[in-house]
Amino acid sequence: MSTVAPEPVLRAQIGVRTVPVHLGTGVIGAVGPVLAAAAQGDGVLVVVDDGVLPAGEQVAESCRDAGMRVHVEAVPAGEASKNLGELERLARAAARAGIRRRDAVVAVGGGVVGDLAGFLAASYQRGVRLVQVPTTLLAMVDSALGGKTGVDLPEGKNYVGAVYQPEAVVMDPVVLGTLPARELSCGFAEVVKYGLLMGGDLMEIVAAWPELPGPDDALADLIRRCAQCKLEVVAEDEMDLGRRAILNLGHTVGHGIEAAGGYDLYHHGEAISLGLLAALRVSERELGLDPTWRRRTADTLGRHGLPVMLDPSVDVDQVIEIMGRDKKSDGRALNMVLLRAPGDVLTHQDPDPAVVRAAVEELVP
Ligand SMILES: NC(=O)c1ccc[n+]([C@@H]2O[C@H](COP(=O)([O-])OP(=O)(O)OC[C@H]3O[C@@H](n4cnc5c(N)ncnc54)[C@H](O)[C@@H]3O)[C@@H](O)[C@H]2O)c1
Ligand SMILES: [Zn+2]
Repeated sequence: MSTVAPEPVLRAQIGVRTVPVHLGTGVIGAVGPVLAAAAQGDGVLVVVDDGVLPAGEQVAESCRDAGMRVHVEAVPAGEASKNLGELERLARAAARAGIRRRDAVVAVGGGVVGDLAGFLAASYQRGVRLVQVPTTLLAMVDSALGGKTGVDLPEGKNYVGAVYQPEAVVMDPVVLGTLPARELSCGFAEVVKYGLLMGGDLMEIVAAWPELPGPDDALADLIRRCAQCKLEVVAEDEMDLGRRAILNLGHTVGHGIEAAGGYDLYHHGEAISLGLLAALRVSERELGLDPTWRRRTADTLGRHGLPVMLDPSVDVDQVIEIMGRDKKSDGRALNMVLLRAPGDVLTHQDPDPAVVRAAVEELVP
């Protein structure tokens, strides 16, 4: 177990904060040294998804070894835990464990625990220190980065939350070894998104990716590049008023499909797989994107267990209707992210609704 804090592989300047990202085999054991190096409070609340308890224990042990007082709270796996009741339970557990302002919350899990424990850290005693330890591929390349935290209401997902940057992000690709194949694939849909956003050799690496998860070193490098892409975008637009919208590539249609499937038929990444293909199709019609990219992307997504055809049980009208509802809340028209080519991205596009409908219809086999 390491006793000194490792050098981060990335350091993002987001607003007034610098967010270091530690990434590599074994870095999960460095959470304690990373916290101790900041020489603040010695209390730590580890909030861990109950599907990944051994990772939580590794984090707890590294904190104990670094001389900290550690309290561990497990959260039941699944989106249903991302609610105000669970937030209250954790906040009260933190209070009983004597967690104070200069102490820290460490989130160990996927996006559910990252968002929930992140919001706990943002709100408990008006804000305590936060370290994100993502354990899903999706969380490593997306949700643990950028500071969005929050919980769901029955009325809507992520309806209560805050933008709150972590003091550090610690990602150890070794933990992905236990992640179910379907979850790995879902995270890979976001990786493909970064390939399309960045173009160039990232797109080539993504398109040529072997079986998931892939070789350790290559995987760590892929995660680093995706994380760098996200953090660069967030650094320019932390509050999501402009450029951060590019991260929504594939998400306009994707959200429509996810919701029309009742959040059950498709997991998020699977809906995004279909949403990416629809966005590329619309990009061909509206911006002249070369259709080769859609064929290559479909091949890449399909090879990694992601859907490239829409399940016939999904009602296209309902997908379109849900997308239209999103538009009213935002005051814009369809508001899609489109590509002229990989790496050449346009946000806030307002494509012809007939073209969008046709792109969704073309997904039906
Ligand atoms: N904050 C953001 O910017 C942001 C961005 C995207 C998504 N999100 C949120 O992220 C959530 C989805 O995150 P997710 O896809 O990581 O899902 P998740 O957190 O539900 O994790 C998926 C499943 O994997 C299990 N798991 C996690 N790590 C594991 C491991 N290493 N080994 C074995 N099992 C493991 C969990 O128990 C869970 O069952 C959603 O709530 C979404 O709203 C947030
Ligand atoms: Zn997404």
